[in-house]
Amino acid sequence: MKSFTYHSSLITYHYFMLDVLGNLERTHSCGELRAEDVGEEVVLMGWVAKKRDFGIFTFIDLRDREGLTQIVVSEEDAKRAHAKAKNLRGEFVVAVLGEVIRREEGTINKKLPTGEIEVKASKILVLNDAKTLPFELEAAGNQNLASEDTRLKYRFLDLRRPRLQQNLMMRARALSKIRAFMELNGFLEIETPILLKSTPEGARDFIVPSRIHTGKFFALPQSPQILKQITMIAGFDKYYQIARCFRDEDLRADRQPEFTQLDIEMSFANQEMVFRTMEGVLKQVFALVEADFETPFPRMTYADAMRRFGSDKPDLRFEMELKDLSDELKDTDFAPFAETLKNKGAIKCIVARGKADYSRKQLDELQEFIKRYGASALAWIKLGEETTSSLLKVLGQEKIEQLAKSTEAEKGDAVLIVAGKKSVVAQSLGALRNEIARRENLIPKNAYKPLWVTEFPMFEYNEDTGNYDAMHHPFTSLMDEDVPLFKRAIEDGEKELLGKIRARAYDIVINGYEIGSGSIRIHQREIQNLIFKALGLTPEKARSRFGFFLDALEYGTPPHGGFAAGIERIVMLLQGTENIRDVVAFPKTASAQDLMMDSPGAVDAAQLDELGIKITEDKVTSV
Ligand code: AMO
Repeated sequence: MKSFTYHSSLITYHYFMLDVLGNLERTHSCGELRAEDVGEEVVLMGWVAKKRDFGIFTFIDLRDREGLTQIVVSEEDAKRAHAKAKNLRGEFVVAVLGEVIRREEGTINKKLPTGEIEVKASKILVLNDAKTLPFELEAAGNQNLASEDTRLKYRFLDLRRPRLQQNLMMRARALSKIRAFMELNGFLEIETPILLKSTPEGARDFIVPSRIHTGKFFALPQSPQILKQITMIAGFDKYYQIARCFRDEDLRADRQPEFTQLDIEMSFANQEMVFRTMEGVLKQVFALVEADFETPFPRMTYADAMRRFGSDKPDLRFEMELKDLSDELKDTDFAPFAETLKNKGAIKCIVARGKADYSRKQLDELQEFIKRYGASALAWIKLGEETTSSLLKVLGQEKIEQLAKSTEAEKGDAVLIVAGKKSVVAQSLGALRNEIARRENLIPKNAYKPLWVTEFPMFEYNEDTGNYDAMHHPFTSLMDEDVPLFKRAIEDGEKELLGKIRARAYDIVINGYEIGSGSIRIHQREIQNLIFKALGLTPEKARSRFGFFLDALEYGTPPHGGFAAGIERIVMLLQGTENIRDVVAFPKTASAQDLMMDSPGAVDAAQLDELGIKITEDKVTSV
């Protein structure tokens, strides 16, 4: 039935106005026909993307997921089809029967793969009509699109945009490449449950109440971490899964509450074996966009990445490394700098090449930018005709010149300096480095720079709790070299040593995106116990959260390690988008809602009753 609101006589009228598809079948997609097909009789079906009416001729752009074909209908050749074509509107669904003809010289569209031909229609079937759309699908070639919220509400229409169709087709092709590679290399696809118990990836869990066990809850997996390790204990040797993960965390441009990982785990594996596997699969996947990844990927330790780029996910498509000025300034009596160094902080800078002409306004903007990352001020030196600086009064001309020289800045450059807590300096300058590269167009197009970041710290200090948390997750093993340090931290109670211990944990970074993470795992129960202890987890708590896993560890666990890569982030890179929602069919907004389905939504009182849940004001209580 067409629509619930139509009067019944209208329904019939409307229904019988439409043509019947019957046994008619498509011969080609709308993206397929080329000059070689001229003369063929074809049947195309799709949506009316555009109609142009020139009186005795009507042109239609017919669209399906494969592309666009121009249809021409002439009053002279096909009177009935022409009359029908005149009444078509945007997004009507039609079938076109006709002959492939060569376009006239001068009307060839080089931008379109089908641009050399058109189909001269002999017959048109209108298979369905469409209401006027709430927004234009391709308004002025993707610019001036309707707001994202409107498009998400009508996602079924937004998804018709060729750009989104290509994104999702690329996603499917990438997954297919991944599966082929994993299977060829002996990995077994094993599915793990979605209704689970809390898993330790550090975000909040999404929880699902149990009806049968009133007052108890499942948690959705933040990742299949423990279960994939158990598949190793169970002897499956090499596991992979295209795994759905759920994390209730603050959303960003590259995060969704629900996302997909290529999740792998390997028995008897060392770090090199995991690296080779991931390099192999990514090489295949990025070949889809003709990126030729040289293997092995370059490597950088976490400490070096933080020191040189202020980030554990450096974008290596451009230079602009951070430089340390603390040596140069060690005897300064400028109070903020002296104080910073006394408190074991950092004074660092980046050199913006050719930017000695930064205006006051531009520098103010950059200052505002770094303040978002907690920095208090941005000092600068500009090597223009004269050397000028915001620090001139406090440091003097000579020191300024000397400082600039130490950074290897040249005439025409600007030196941008931040002082403060080490972590704040790293974060703010690291972000400023990216921001300047973006503003100044320093990022080459279609370049991919993969990198392994290795030797991540095992623990990170949590200022709120005063405890140490696992930086990756608690099942990560330590670097052999740091085991003595760990022993001291545990046995002699030198807790602060925990901050110095490195893990056998690694990330893949491409173009500044953390594509994935992994580690070599702990496979001995005693060591796992010690890690829990270091994390401040009492044996009782460890048992209640991970008892099943601790038990499993005691029954012949092989050494193992693995990795998980974010599928959305990979497809974002393949398709050159910075918005994760562009590569997810039905994404959530930044405030974790699905605007099309209007979820999350309320449920019936009866459903809550069955679950033994009562909603009190804004809170849910289990009764
Ligand atoms: P991790 O938590 O680092 O590791 O996640 C691995 C990769 O998953 C992607 N990712 C996300 N993508 C979109 N939205 C999100 N909210 C999101 N969160 C993570 C990222 C990230 O690098 N179990 C471990 C892996 C292991 O040790 O084997 C894990 O999940 O690309």
